[in-house]
Amino acid sequence: LKCAQMPEDAAKHRIAVGADHAGFHLKETVKRFLLDAGYEVDDVGTSSEESVDYPDFARAAAELVASGHDRFGILACGTGIGMAMAADKVSGIRAANASEPLTARLSREHNDANVLTIGARILDDAKAIEVVRAFLASDFAGGRHQRRVDKISELDHAHGEPAARAAEVTKGPK
Ligand code: RB5
Repeated sequence: LKCAQMPEDAAKHRIAVGADHAGFHLKETVKRFLLDAGYEVDDVGTSSEESVDYPDFARAAAELVASGHDRFGILACGTGIGMAMAADKVSGIRAANASEPLTARLSREHNDANVLTIGARILDDAKAIEVVRAFLASDFAGGRHQRRVDKISELDHAHGEPAARAAEVTKGPK
């Protein structure tokens, strides 16, 4: 059965959701929305308002996405910023912190974002759901954006000697 409001390909997607204590309630709201819309959801926690460290949950959700187990990740903390910083350290992850629908849409269309992060101190539930909907309803546009996303992916393999690399860059163009 297809719900009228369900995005076309919702049935194909698994989505990993995660939060720290600050994002816990928002994560529960997003999870309910996703389940009602027909998505499969993997909840990596946290499961209460007890203080925890957001990188642990960012990492768990990001690894589900990077491994291909889940199509997208949605992470909530106080601002969404710590979650984005941590998730982006996982190879293959392009995390976008969005506080309004346009940024969420463009993060999919231009950057092929595969993780959305949101801030519970920034967004109320209704606004957060608008942001989530915009993210899920948008597709990567490809074309000229593909080359740029490929260059982001190259950075996944470019870590190692940041000091040496910085010295090279400061020498300027050859
Ligand atoms: C936790 O107090 C807070 O720092 C965290 O939820 C988040 O906002 C980090 O970016």
